[in-house]
Amino acid sequence: MSAVKQIKIQEHYDTIADVYDHHYDQHRGRSYHKHISTHIMNALPHGGKLLDIGCGTGLFVDRYIKSGGSAIGLDISRKMIEQARRRCRTCDYTIGIGEKIPFCDNSFDAVSSLLVFSYVKDPRSMMSEAYRVLKPGGSIALCTLGKKLLTRGIPAIYHIGEKINVKHVVMKDFGEHYYDEVEMNELFTKAGFSDIQVKWCSFAHIDMIDPLFLLAQKIEPFVEKRVPQLAYNIFVSGKKPRQ
Ligand SMILES: C[S@@+](CC[C@H](N)C(=O)[O-])C[C@H]1O[C@@H](n2cnc3c(N)ncnc32)[C@H](O)[C@@H]1O
Repeated sequence: MSAVKQIKIQEHYDTIADVYDHHYDQHRGRSYHKHISTHIMNALPHGGKLLDIGCGTGLFVDRYIKSGGSAIGLDISRKMIEQARRRCRTCDYTIGIGEKIPFCDNSFDAVSSLLVFSYVKDPRSMMSEAYRVLKPGGSIALCTLGKKLLTRGIPAIYHIGEKINVKHVVMKDFGEHYYDEVEMNELFTKAGFSDIQVKWCSFAHIDMIDPLFLLAQKIEPFVEKRVPQLAYNIFVSGKKPRQ
């Protein structure tokens, strides 16, 4: 397994922050992101105080705040946070990494992380940090590219994409790691979480051409429920026990 290249990730997101936002502002991007964030919203208490790890341009904190909660976005990239500030001014932001969260113990009702975990260099530290900052009874939900049939070739594609200089918001060799159910369950359990749920989501991908995207979107609920081996994001949620 190659090591996650954290500085390269940060520099990359600093460079593409404005393009990234544009990518998720066109209709396929919006539906793709809305689909993932609905899974996350459904697993978190509404109206509480949220920490979003790897908040990027603020798509999820914006949705969480609009549903009645308050939020803090944490991201390694200063430029992504600058974009997030434009999107959602009522949210607070901080630059930092999920592996070392700059907040006190027991300060949040909810922790989320969307499309970030595959980039995390030290997943155990991020899980124990998320556990530390959650209040007892608080919830965590994350969604990230998982280790599945359709994602197996991605590292090779990204590697080649970078070599031949393909311009794409995520097509670079960052040494990303994709997780399966067993690894996720173990990470969550070892961190101390209970009520752990793991499921597979997403079949319609932002990079599909329109007719394919629409078709994939139609059958997405069926795929998620009946043929999860064809879904490519892994979704995990859990709770910090009240003790
Ligand atoms: C694919 S983007 C996802 C952004 C946002 N969560 C969303 O759903 O649009 C990945 C984000 O994770 C951030 N990131 C990567 N590794 C990180 C880490 N270890 N700690 C905090 N943020 C990280 C990147 O800077 C980038 O903004």
